[in-house]
Amino acid sequence: MAESGATLSNLSTESRAFPPSEEFAAQANATAELYDRADADREAFWAEQADRLSWSRKWDKVLEWNAPFAKWFVGGQLNVAYNCVDRHVEEGNGDRVALYWEGEPGDSREITYADLKREVSRAANALIELGVGKGDRVAIQMPMIPETAISMLACARIGAMHSVVFGGFSPGALKARIEDAECKLLITTDGQYRRGKPAPMKENTDEAVEGTSIEHVLVVKRTDIDVPWTDGRDVWWHDTVGTASEEHTPEAFDSEHPLFILYTSGTTGKPKGILHTSGGYLTQTAYTHNVVFDHKPGESVYWCTADVGWVTGHSYIVYGPMANGATSVMYEGTPNTPHEGRHWEIVQKYGVSIYYTAPTLIRTFMKWGEQIPAEYDLSSLKVLGTVGEPINPEAWMWFREKIGGERCPIVDTWWQTETGAIMIAPLPGVTETKPGSAMKVLPGIGATVVDESGTPVGNGEGGYLVLDQPWPAMLRGIWGDEERYRDTYWSKFAEQGYYFAGDGAKYDEDGAIWLLGRVDDVMNISGHRISTTEVESALVSHPTVAEAAVVGASDETTGQGIVAFVILRGNAAKDGGDEAIKALRDHVAKEIGPIAKPRNIMVVEELPKTRSGKIMRRLLKDVAENREVGDVSTLADSSVMDLISSGMKEGKED
Ligand code: WTA
Repeated sequence: MAESGATLSNLSTESRAFPPSEEFAAQANATAELYDRADADREAFWAEQADRLSWSRKWDKVLEWNAPFAKWFVGGQLNVAYNCVDRHVEEGNGDRVALYWEGEPGDSREITYADLKREVSRAANALIELGVGKGDRVAIQMPMIPETAISMLACARIGAMHSVVFGGFSPGALKARIEDAECKLLITTDGQYRRGKPAPMKENTDEAVEGTSIEHVLVVKRTDIDVPWTDGRDVWWHDTVGTASEEHTPEAFDSEHPLFILYTSGTTGKPKGILHTSGGYLTQTAYTHNVVFDHKPGESVYWCTADVGWVTGHSYIVYGPMANGATSVMYEGTPNTPHEGRHWEIVQKYGVSIYYTAPTLIRTFMKWGEQIPAEYDLSSLKVLGTVGEPINPEAWMWFREKIGGERCPIVDTWWQTETGAIMIAPLPGVTETKPGSAMKVLPGIGATVVDESGTPVGNGEGGYLVLDQPWPAMLRGIWGDEERYRDTYWSKFAEQGYYFAGDGAKYDEDGAIWLLGRVDDVMNISGHRISTTEVESALVSHPTVAEAAVVGASDETTGQGIVAFVILRGNAAKDGGDEAIKALRDHVAKEIGPIAKPRNIMVVEELPKTRSGKIMRRLLKDVAENREVGDVSTLADSSVMDLISSGMKEGKED
């Protein structure tokens, strides 16, 4: 165990490892030679990756780096929507399904690339008709329906930027984002299905656009519920897009032309408008989608379960897969509507071969029980992926066994809204994987773990994760706030010129990378800096626990004490009696050491999470320190906090 004062303690060890099967390795898109090629000449490597795309004008220079500002494929021109849609039709793949869309109430649609070309062209023409042009901003708040992807691609096609806002965000949150980006148009729906019922959407978005720069609201009819209507401002999708011409000639834009803004709520402060541009972003999303998921165009059926309002939806539902001509599944609803087997039913129905999801959902599936996926035929699955949080080793093992039938490689992918695309992940046909580790920096990417002074740490040591080379899909700034861009990402290791990602990480004894959560969440127990992730994973490795969140609460003797909130598995007794709590504390002590033994453990039904599934430890810390709970506006379900707070007052200490 690390001595006090170490950057981040390295507590857990993992001895299980899974090399790729020979069979998988033999057919994999990426081989070990990719690492060598990238090492030998990084820029030549990225130039090769950019050749995955169709450029109207070839670039003059691969990279221009004036830290912290990068330009990739300088002088090149392309149209992103053409790359994601038209060229597949031109190559004779117009009949290939682009989207198998599954609605929550059970309706479904099949959209081929030829259909998509027509729809995107129509939408592009309608947007122009509504006064949207190159460089304008378009806000999109919509559920998971094909029109959402079509809207994004239509913006890209005419050089407008989209700013997609989660369907579940409040009018206030939408308004702040519309105002920050000075959007001209809002695209939304009349309503959205949520857990089997139509809920209003336009009613809320109307509140958000009041008094803003929005000139028109374009409304897709999804639920057929009554909506308020402002003549002159509001237009129906079916009246405008539906009647527009399906001919539209895409114009080529500069490689650095802005593609979209996406706001990250983060855990604190005003949302940041993360800016992404065209050529580099599309290159890295296409490359990673191909090599990390081992995607085979025309063969694979790919499903990324993220919401399009999250960067994962942008990069791995829309841009990466479509640049690669993928056949994707898109599902509108929640995983338990109308039953807890819904995802597996969809995997079976479409023969999904690549399934990319979030650890939070895997832990939810664990809680519901393994008997549910066991009822379905999941034999079509070939590759499984995760993103969004560190995945606890036990959740990883469960995913491997109960979903992947012990045959599918799991790719744990680390990246951020800011990085635009995957940065750290195994290559499924090359890398031996370990449960809970994102393993290795991808070919072409530069990342390292350093201590407080910026010096790389050795194997078996933890520290700060930094990116030490510019990468094609990197953010180009924070919308309208250069200073904040420099401060947030480039100031901590200014001397070395590193991008600091905000995450803690460690190398294990073999040099594999383990993500340890946000450094803001790191706990300090008697001078030992302990990551929340390792304690949570130790709790989840107990057979009764499905999910755990830990925080450091101020403590008179130890500085901070570990307070844990746990959700029990479906098959575990639902009581958090003294014996059960003691067993859990002892289990943590045994797994990773007595220093990490939680001071309190509380059994809860739910944990506070953002819409993208990240646990909001800051709120739990408020509870643990008996403070009034802070801002809950980005929670998926704000009532969760009331439940937890009231339970805490009853107190369940051992
Ligand atoms: C966390 C999501 C561990 C991390 C694409 C990061 C992860 C933040 C992983 C970005 C992973 C994402 N293992 N942690 N595989 N993937 N994270 O912007 O803390 O929503 O900084 O982008 O999620 O979240 P964001």
